[in-house]
Amino acid sequence: MARRRRRSPPVEMTVSIESLTNDSRGVAHHEGKAVFVEGALPGEVVLCQTTKRTSKYDTAKVIEVIEASEDRVQPRCSAAGICGGCSLQHMSESSQIHAKQQVLLDNLKQIGKVEPLSTLPPLQSSHWNYRRKARLGVKFVPKKGGVLVGFREKQSGYLAVMDSCEVLDGRFSQLIMPLRELIGEISIAKRIPQIEIAAGDNSAVMVFRHLEPLSERDKEHLKAFAIQYDLSIMLQPAGPDSIHELYPESQGLLEYRLDEWDVSIRFRPTDFTQVNASINQLMVSNALELLAAEEDEEVLDLFCGVGNFTLPLARVCRQVTGIEGDSVLVKMARDNAVHNKITNAEFITADLYDAPLDGSWLHRKWDRILLDPPRSGAMEVIERLPELQPKRIVYVSCNPATLARDADLLVNKFGYKLLAAGVMDMFPHTKHVESIAVFEPS
Ligand SMILES: C[S@@+](CC[C@H](N)C(=O)[O-])C[C@H]1O[C@@H](n2cnc3c(N)ncnc32)[C@H](O)[C@@H]1O
Repeated sequence: MARRRRRSPPVEMTVSIESLTNDSRGVAHHEGKAVFVEGALPGEVVLCQTTKRTSKYDTAKVIEVIEASEDRVQPRCSAAGICGGCSLQHMSESSQIHAKQQVLLDNLKQIGKVEPLSTLPPLQSSHWNYRRKARLGVKFVPKKGGVLVGFREKQSGYLAVMDSCEVLDGRFSQLIMPLRELIGEISIAKRIPQIEIAAGDNSAVMVFRHLEPLSERDKEHLKAFAIQYDLSIMLQPAGPDSIHELYPESQGLLEYRLDEWDVSIRFRPTDFTQVNASINQLMVSNALELLAAEEDEEVLDLFCGVGNFTLPLARVCRQVTGIEGDSVLVKMARDNAVHNKITNAEFITADLYDAPLDGSWLHRKWDRILLDPPRSGAMEVIERLPELQPKRIVYVSCNPATLARDADLLVNKFGYKLLAAGVMDMFPHTKHVESIAVFEPS
């Protein structure tokens, strides 16, 4: 019989925090071993308790701050210490973005072996009620007072007990407790695993995943909730294709505006869209300024989604082509072009990770290229970009490690220079780092 490995019992220790990891845990050393302490800041002395012990390092959580850093602030949310939705609420907002900028520069240096010629000022906006999209977990836990709704705990897979959420869009932030009560009244409360929430500028939607049919009475409860809180409610009885309206019966698409370019972007609640509307406005503006496309130029927008950068680009250049892997998003992007009376944007479905890549768009010369890949980066297509001879490349990234890896290719293999890089505060209070980088041929 396999012997089960015994976990070492937790140990308490007092440590001095030297620096921050890339995911914003405090780094200390104790008896020669590195300790990564959740919730601790550089310069602090903390009493912490181990959460995991290995021969090479320990992880720990703060029990008591003995000497506090000047950057420490009181978290706004009472669940901040346990809820995995946020991990930096104990850190002032200016030090959060400074730490993220350092993560970007460290990654570029260590992984990419590059340094930007200049560092762009961080893009910042509101730090609270910014999050327009989220997937909330739901679980019936009688021991914890009935139905829980929210994010998972930092240290476990369990849902955190929370009544409200300060980072969710204002239309959702105070609805956690009402949602807990609502689901408590539903006959299949134990068979609702999650709720997706999404908001546009003028409307908000909740999509309830349910594993068993809802009764007519359940549906009436949900409708009453939608009316009370001025929301639309959709149901998802099976896979993503099963999503349909409950109330109102014909819910239009969600929509957000990019006023600077007179563009309205429509999307469905489960489509990829940037979560932070005001940072998105600043980001699109910044990216277009850095790309500096001229009116007689042709631009390629890789990983274009529903056209968030493509459609504004169409307003400033001669022609733009968006490439996207999800054919449903491509259709939405095409519809968005029609909706905005844009005729100089085309959209193509292609899997940009499917090397060797092919397609007519890869055999043309492009004046400028923008790319905004998922976390895994864009290595496969980066290999092909120099063939397309762009005068400038703007790379928007949600993962500084893959941006740095790809910057290494562009700079150290293909001879581009990294003109500038900077961070954008897309996800305040979380460890996620959104960044932008500009490359030009040397
Ligand atoms: C970070 S999002 C950016 C979307 C868009 N630029 C925006 O600002 O809303 C990344 C996009 O890459 C798309 N994507 C993911 N994997 C892909 C692949 N293998 N090939 C092409 N596109 C892919 C996703 O569907 C998503 O739309």
